[in-house]
This record gives sequence, C-alpha cells and structure tokens, in this order.
Amino acid sequence: MNPELFDLLYQLEMRDQKEGLHIIHPDAAKLLLILVISNKAQIIVEIGAGVGYSTLWLAYAASLTGGKVITCELEAARAAEAQAHIEQAGLADQVEFLTGDARELLRHRDEPVDFVFIDGDYGQYETYFDVLYKRMGTGATLVADDVVTDENELADYSTYVQNHPNLDSATVPVGNGLEITVKIAE
Ligand SMILES: C[S@@+](CC[C@H](N)C(=O)[O-])C[C@H]1O[C@@H](n2cnc3c(N)ncnc32)[C@H](O)[C@@H]1O
Repeated sequence: MNPELFDLLYQLEMRDQKEGLHIIHPDAAKLLLILVISNKAQIIVEIGAGVGYSTLWLAYAASLTGGKVITCELEAARAAEAQAHIEQAGLADQVEFLTGDARELLRHRDEPVDFVFIDGDYGQYETYFDVLYKRMGTGATLVADDVVTDENELADYSTYVQNHPNLDSATVPVGNGLEITVKIAE
C-alpha cells in the first residue's frame, strides 16, 4: 500500500470518530480486500461509496487483481468527495463513479459481476441483490455490511440469502457484521 493511501485511510478513520462518516470498520475493510484478492475479482460493484473509504480499499484490491470497481453513490457531494479521495490515492484508473440511485443506475449495465459490496440504504438491500443477481456467475461473492449491528432492519435480507437455493451465505461478526454470500449455482 502506498503511503498516500495509508495516510488517507487513517485520516478518514479519524474523521469518522469525530464526524460519524459511517464508514465500514477497518477490520471489515481488510476482509473485503482479502476476499477480492482471493477471488481474483475483475468487476467489483459497490453500492454506497459514501466519502470513499471502502471504495479506496476496493480500488486498492482491484489494483492487485487487475480489476475495476464500479461504485454508486446517491449523494452528489459525497460522490465528489469519494472521487477526490480516489484521485489523491492514485487509484483513479481502477474506479468508475456512478452518481445517483444504484437501483436505477445498475439496471442499465450488463457486464458480468465478480464481487459486490452493499453498504447503502437498509430498506433496499434486497432490491440491490435483485438488480445484480443475474449478472453474477457461479463463484461470485456478495458482501453486505451492518447485518449484526442493524440485525432487525436487515433480518429479511439475511434470511433471504441464507435460504436461497443457489447461494451459500454466512453472517460473519467482523466490524458491524458482514453477510458473506457466494453464488453456488446458476
Ligand atoms: C454507510 S454509507 C457508505 C459508507 C462507505 N461504504 C464506506 O464504508 O466508506 C451509505 C451510503 O449509501 C448511499 N446510498 C443510500 N442509498 C443509495 C442508493 N439507492 N444508491 C446509491 N447510494 C445510496 C448514501 O448516500 C450513503 O452515502
């Protein structure tokens, strides 16, 4: 990891403590990195870039797999800040920014997806899943954040992916709790 990226991640972690940026926990971010690299993921989709903390981790992972991150952020000001952070870290070639509602933006895409990170609005996790499901091949991995800290809001999503016949899924208590799901059949 280059020093600019390392410093930027640290600054955002410090800002989160003061301002509550709602970034992913650093341990969960590290797990995302490991999963992207071990899957050799090429097309990585993120829903909910925020100010780009998780996007930086995913873009760094993509720089190691030769892949690319397509990230969606609803709020234009946050998307602009995330983009500035990615440029500052020298990772602009790894990231395509889509600003707006991921539920609409991703309906107009058709590339296969290897890895998905969901960190958007809790009421929308199942819709994000539905929009991307057909583009995920066998072995594609989907990680959803906050399933432990916000268990009540996300129980329907976790139950759905855990009982889906074409998926294997487990709740992993790292950070705010990640639901890690793998597509095992088409
Ligand atoms: C918890 S924050 C994301 C934090 C970020 N993943 C990180 O770890 O640095 C959630 C973000 O999802 C965005 N969001 C909510 N609904 C969305 C949607 N339908 N499409 C795209 N982004 C959405 C919000 O604007 C907010 O910035």
